[in-house]
Amino acid sequence: MRRIKHRLTLIYTFIIGVFALFLGIYISYLIQNIYIDALEKRLFEEINMITTIISLEDRYDFTDNLEEFAKELGEDISTRITLINTKGEVLADSQYDKNKMENHLNRPEVLVALSGKVGKEIRYSDTLGIDMLYLASPLYKDNNLLGVIRLALPLHEIRSSIKGFWYNLILALTIVFLITIFISTKLTNRITQPLEHITEIARKITKKDYSERLDINREDEIGQLGRAINIMADSLENQMKTIHENEKKLSTVLNNMSSGVILIDKNGIIIFANPAVEWLIGVSENTLIGKYHYEVGKQESISELIERAINNKESIHTEIGIYYPTKKYLDANVVPILDSSGEINNVLVLLIDITKIKRLEKMRTEFVANVSHELRTPITAVKGFTETLLDGTINDEDTRRTFLQIIHKESDRLHRLISDLLDLTKIEQNKEILNFSKVDLKSLIQSTIATMRPQIEKNKISIYEELDEVQVEADEDRLRQVMINLINNGIAYTPENGSITVRLYQHNKDFIKIEVEDTGIGIPEKSLPRIFERFYRVDKARSRESGGTGLGLAIVKHIIESHGGSIHVESRVGKGSKFTIIFPKKKYDIYET
Ligand SMILES: Nc1ncnc2c1ncn2[C@@H]1O[C@H](COP(=O)(O)OP(=O)(O)OP(=O)(O)O)[C@@H](O)[C@H]1O
Ligand SMILES: [Mg+2]
Repeated sequence: MRRIKHRLTLIYTFIIGVFALFLGIYISYLIQNIYIDALEKRLFEEINMITTIISLEDRYDFTDNLEEFAKELGEDISTRITLINTKGEVLADSQYDKNKMENHLNRPEVLVALSGKVGKEIRYSDTLGIDMLYLASPLYKDNNLLGVIRLALPLHEIRSSIKGFWYNLILALTIVFLITIFISTKLTNRITQPLEHITEIARKITKKDYSERLDINREDEIGQLGRAINIMADSLENQMKTIHENEKKLSTVLNNMSSGVILIDKNGIIIFANPAVEWLIGVSENTLIGKYHYEVGKQESISELIERAINNKESIHTEIGIYYPTKKYLDANVVPILDSSGEINNVLVLLIDITKIKRLEKMRTEFVANVSHELRTPITAVKGFTETLLDGTINDEDTRRTFLQIIHKESDRLHRLISDLLDLTKIEQNKEILNFSKVDLKSLIQSTIATMRPQIEKNKISIYEELDEVQVEADEDRLRQVMINLINNGIAYTPENGSITVRLYQHNKDFIKIEVEDTGIGIPEKSLPRIFERFYRVDKARSRESGGTGLGLAIVKHIIESHGGSIHVESRVGKGSKFTIIFPKKKYDIYET
């Protein structure tokens, strides 16, 4: 019996049942006593009356003719009358034959009466076979004890009336009992139903369901409890909401940041990792979580840092190189988080990808080295030849002229190099604002070729044009520079009798296509990915001879890309090269995308 409702009902029922039982027993006992008392009283009055009659009238001889007297009197008062002499012999009985009756000296009430008092007894009568109430009184004549007069009344009436009373009592009690059960069930329900509801809602709260509230208007303890639960649910709901919102904010940040975050507990078990970690070290967050940090393998350098941070309880900030899944440089920050007693609670690892920065750094140093190298060659030449001339040892006019021509050529080269470098830097830093205008590309290409024709002819190369009418929005000067650089390369890297073809046509609705194809020496496959790099030249000696700096294609690529286009190259050694440009027709704003 686990529910209070059932328990309370059972207790009520038991208490009421026991109470009713005791009440019944007590009342029946009371009724019996009252009844017997009344009977006794009646017998006592009758016996007094009879003794008075006997002593007053004096016409009865107590030894004679008693039977008739007893019978008449018994019928008059509808009571059994027995007359007994001092020896206990029955002299007369109103209802029985005296001869068949035994000596009554052993009857307690008779003995009491013989001693001069009124005797009283309730006893089972052998003669009649029922319970009887007996009352016996001494009979005197002239102060001589004549015998005893005994009156008797059957008690079966009281028995049957008590039985009837019991029937009624049981009936009444059953009704009372049922009503009480009904009322007590109602009462307990009034207590237990809200309790059940409260329990149900409390159970929901434990399952994080805060949707329901109690509707209680009572002022008692249950009402107070209900309201307390409502307030608790409100505050829990608010707290959970705040927690969820914070969690959401935090997970949005952690899920979308490019830095990797790993949290490790004091035993070295990984308890958190964000998605960036997978991208950085090639192991998914799900694989990481729950593992010991050394188990994850692959990135021993990180594990060592963690171990060091745990052992020395100190933060470590360093750069590490990793080789899986790709070669990367990471800025690693490993911070032990200590509790108030100075013991390690967690270790936080923050990983930032610095590969790009590293690469840029490397490029910058390479660039500086390259520039110095490229500048030194013409400067050395200029310096050497001017010194020789200044010596004044050269008297030959022709030699002097040749020297001066070399100096001129080298300083020219120096000038070009520096202006190319400046151009490139400007474009790279997006400092130079492009000067957009409507450009008729066909005539631009035609006029460019026209200015270059003397050199083309000098190199004994043919040039073909396949040009459609195409308009674009672009920086005209920059586009011309692109065409010059590409055609120049064609001229420089195509032997005699070769040819260059320039094509211009619509690529699709938004883009046009320019192709510059030659039948020149071509580019080895391994160099193809690098030819757009600054200072990269396939054959340094050859291009220097041709006056190249290795910056031409880098400038081309930057101009095309700053317009929102793209360039790529196909080439086969000994067969020729083809540069293809895809270029937007409309002005492209680099800051818009
Ligand atoms: N059409 C081509 N055919 C064969 N090789 C080419 C061609 N165009 C470029 N290259 C190769 O690519 C390298 C880079 O070209 P780029 O134009 O950037 O430099 P450059 O021509 O050497 O010098 P400059 O800065 O004077 O143009 C060249 O040195 C050359 O080796
Ligand atoms: Mg070039």
